[in-house]
Amino acid sequence: DGELSLSRSMINSSDKIIRKGGSSIFQHAVEGWKINSSLVLEIRKNILRFLDAERDVSVVKSSFKPGDVIHYVLDRRRTLNISQDLHSLLPEVSPMKNRRFKTCAVVGNSGILLDSGCGKEIDSHDFVIRCNLAPVVEFAADVGTKSDFITMNPSVVQRAFGGFRNESDRTKFVHRLSMLNDSVLWIPAFMVKGGEKHVEWVNALILKNKLKVRTAYPSLRLIHAVRGYWLTNKVHIKRPSTGLLMYTLATRFCDEIHLYGFWPFPKDLHGKPVKYHYYDDLKYRYFSNASPHRMPLEFKTLYVLHNRGALKLTTGKCV
Ligand code: CTP
Repeated sequence: DGELSLSRSMINSSDKIIRKGGSSIFQHAVEGWKINSSLVLEIRKNILRFLDAERDVSVVKSSFKPGDVIHYVLDRRRTLNISQDLHSLLPEVSPMKNRRFKTCAVVGNSGILLDSGCGKEIDSHDFVIRCNLAPVVEFAADVGTKSDFITMNPSVVQRAFGGFRNESDRTKFVHRLSMLNDSVLWIPAFMVKGGEKHVEWVNALILKNKLKVRTAYPSLRLIHAVRGYWLTNKVHIKRPSTGLLMYTLATRFCDEIHLYGFWPFPKDLHGKPVKYHYYDDLKYRYFSNASPHRMPLEFKTLYVLHNRGALKLTTGKCV
């Protein structure tokens, strides 16, 4: 499929643009951006060969019964018990069943969003996807507040909510979730061992406080399928980042996908420092071998897709 494959030379040329800091070339690409609807359809069709986001976005109640034992997706030797609480929070049907949108925003967490003024534009999309329960209220002008779908790695409990060690951490968490109303809260609970206690605590808090969020837990095959899709397009990703996963899922139900907050580089095109996250002081991790992700490679891929009209990447200010 000639249309789709991201050839080495295309990736290399975008590499040069990023390294040279050629903001004029990049800005030109943003100004002249136009959706390529036939490419969008082709990408959707090709991704559907690997996964169906309607189904793979979450396991459903009928997939398991309480007490079932499953193997972690990325650590097959270890197992997890499906608890009563977890089972009661599994959706009856996919939360994305029959949902279609004209335009969607996928919001990554890069500090490139600070001072962007993109809040209004992000909120104007029909469906807004966010990652890792990132805070919004204090940053509304730059990131907006609308969240129809939000992911939460179990590690967020430790990282942003003090491991629920005291009552105020738990209250802060419950408050954050109560702002989501009936949006989808997507918890990758079956990936690796380590976060099971956190997932159980989260589930217990949702049940105890009768929170309205619609919990979803990605299917056991999702991550391998996503990786498979990108691999056949010559994008060698060990483990797709949450942001890339969200773009891949969104191709199923969004006609036009706009990405914000994707910038895995410590400087902007003018050489100004950029924080890893817009909301905390976490440092860049993906240049070390410790990180499972290859975000710069993912970014280059998204940049190529932007230039071909498959998606729109915003890395500057919104007007
Ligand atoms: N992202 C980016 N540039 C950054 C930070 C994040 O492009 N400087 C994108 C990535 O696609 C990332 C997503 O925004 O997956 C959400 O960011 P974050 O919550 O930081 O994800 P991580 O916890 O770093 O990684 P993951 O959840 O994918 O394991």
